[in-house]
Amino acid sequence: MKKTVGIIGAGTMGGGIAQVAALAGFDVLLYDTSGEALKASMERIRGDLRTSVQKGTATSPEATAALTRIRPRRTFEEMGAADAVIEAAPEDLEVKKEIFRALDRIVAPRAVLATNTSSLSITSIGSLTRTPESVVGMHFFNPPARMKLVEIVRGSQTSEQTVRTVHEMALAMGKTAVFCSDTPGFIVNRVARPFYGEALRVLGEGTATAEEIDRIVRLSGGFRMGPFELMDLIGIDVNYAVTKSVYEQFYHEPRFRPHPIQRRMVEAGTLGRKTGRGFYRYE
Ligand SMILES: NC(=O)c1ccc[n+]([C@@H]2O[C@H](COP(=O)([O-])OP(=O)(O)OC[C@H]3O[C@@H](n4cnc5c(N)ncnc54)[C@H](O)[C@@H]3O)[C@@H](O)[C@H]2O)c1
Repeated sequence: MKKTVGIIGAGTMGGGIAQVAALAGFDVLLYDTSGEALKASMERIRGDLRTSVQKGTATSPEATAALTRIRPRRTFEEMGAADAVIEAAPEDLEVKKEIFRALDRIVAPRAVLATNTSSLSITSIGSLTRTPESVVGMHFFNPPARMKLVEIVRGSQTSEQTVRTVHEMALAMGKTAVFCSDTPGFIVNRVARPFYGEALRVLGEGTATAEEIDRIVRLSGGFRMGPFELMDLIGIDVNYAVTKSVYEQFYHEPRFRPHPIQRRMVEAGTLGRKTGRGFYRYE
């Protein structure tokens, strides 16, 4: 079992994955290029662990121990000490390629290199390393502390040993794994694209408001959140980047086409919950 997990990117997902890994007993090195993001992430983790204790889902000693296992880091080279790395930087292939090229220079040859990408090619990311057999998709869902599912994605050169290792890690974190091959958006984000896209088209045509669409989807479909509530939770920028990525990789298949509403919201910086305003307003 891999003991020290390095997490790259301390945003919505990286912070949540750090929390889940620390609660499962892993030592965590949490890295971000932004000191502010790192500080905010540690605050969120502290707050969330406090809530878990209040709700009785973790004991106070468990929460305290988890917190002490997470070491925030500003120096990338320190990730070299990790037995397994989970990358959760922005959904931009160039950014991820740069990270994996740099990781390749510092990690031990047997280290597992996982990416939390929602849609990008594991094969392409792996090809930049000397050990493409150690590169794998480990796709957590938002919020990682509460969502049970992890998609484990095999790149065309990923070894079975690597898949087994991340499966063991996912199980240790209390997750249920689903396995799939390396296709744009994997399973969940491919199936979800038309869900967001059609809702955006209904909104764009003025057929109904975001509130109405969300309410109908919740009441009639039994979904816990409607498409606009979910996009606000994910981050409009992240959701837009994933949509563009799936659309590009499927050679501009019309059913995956992004919507101008998404682009405008990214331009305006109304990115959902994380900025206090998206399709809805937040305190
Ligand atoms: N938000 C979701 O619902 C969700 C769900 C599943 C998977 N994902 C995937 O997880 C990844 C991260 O998404 P997120 O929502 O956490 O994004 P985010 O914007 O909340 O966080 C990204 C973090 O990465 C940091 N960063 C930027 N460049 C970096 C670099 N070169 N090295 C290290 N850190 C860097 C940023 O400072 C930021 O803190 C993406 O690939 C996304 O597709 C997101």
